[in-house]
Amino acid sequence: MRGTRAPGDSDRSQSLRPGLGNRNASTRFARQAKTSPFDPVQLDRSVKYAYSPLVARLIRTFASVRPGMRIVELGCGTGFWGRLLAKGLRGQGSLLGIDSDPVMVEAAKVAFRRSGLDLANSQLGDAVATGLPDGFADLTTCHRLLTVVEDPLAVVREMMRITKSGGVVLVNEHDHSRQLFWDPDDPGLAQLRHRGLQAFVQATRHVHHRDNALGAQLPAIAIASGLTDLRLLGVLVPYGPLPFDKRVADDELVEYFQWLAEETQRRDPDIADAGGVDWTDAEDEEYIGRELRAIRGRLSSHRSLRSWGRITLVPRLLLRGKVPRF
Ligand SMILES: C[S@@+](CC[C@H](N)C(=O)[O-])C[C@H]1O[C@@H](n2cnc3c(N)ncnc32)[C@H](O)[C@@H]1O
Repeated sequence: MRGTRAPGDSDRSQSLRPGLGNRNASTRFARQAKTSPFDPVQLDRSVKYAYSPLVARLIRTFASVRPGMRIVELGCGTGFWGRLLAKGLRGQGSLLGIDSDPVMVEAAKVAFRRSGLDLANSQLGDAVATGLPDGFADLTTCHRLLTVVEDPLAVVREMMRITKSGGVVLVNEHDHSRQLFWDPDDPGLAQLRHRGLQAFVQATRHVHHRDNALGAQLPAIAIASGLTDLRLLGVLVPYGPLPFDKRVADDELVEYFQWLAEETQRRDPDIADAGGVDWTDAEDEEYIGRELRAIRGRLSSHRSLRSWGRITLVPRLLLRGKVPRF
């Protein structure tokens, strides 16, 4: 199915899967660095509105970020999440982003430079075999990584290995099967979209081996990993700009919904053809038609767009644990 795809899941290549090497293969891995299927621009767009300053502060407190810390982010992409956490360093400490895709490593470097974050850097590496020394970091983290890897537990174990005893491991993953969506112009759209999202999550698991509903499994994964002092924080975050949010400029709002209309019509043939998914072509057409009517109707004037009570919120689960002291 296509209409309810998650924008951050937009693929550069439909068939490529993130590569996982074995634990001793970091040199070979560096030579075989994989281009990930994710698009840096779409990745940024899909989280740009997620964390208000208030929620970002709450998260830094939850993560116990303090000046002087050494932070490592695995699967850093463009470095968005690391930058949010690194604000809590107040210029003292360091941030190292690791990604298996050279395009992302470069994108993160550029973003760190642009945001004046001298203490941040990024490098190529595999999340299950980073090559970093044992106990390297005070805080190791990931955001939207466990949902895309073959073996999430192996990643958490590597995070524990590179974190010092008593240090913090923080993971943040979503669950797109439980989005909160409402459109006052078409109340029935919520149910149709919900069915479409279930189909999208199932098909993505089947075709790309990515689990976009993994968030709720974090406590089970953390318990299996042996992390201690577990704490869970759940937040519902906006997917795009909320139309009535005055902090978002008119032009930006229009640009976002124009993009969403285009994205709604884009088809990932592999996902659309996935077998065993309970979502018919007729439902797909119906969803697209209704969604386009809703968006285009509101795009007719700024006033109409601004007074739209539509919300699209994504559950995100943040789990932090400590590496046991031996
Ligand atoms: C969905 S993106 C999320 C990026 C970023 N954390 C964010 O939330 O914007 C997943 C990222 O993980 C990277 N990735 C996937 N498998 C990896 C692996 N085994 N080792 C390191 N990075 C990996 C991809 O290249 C991609 O940049």
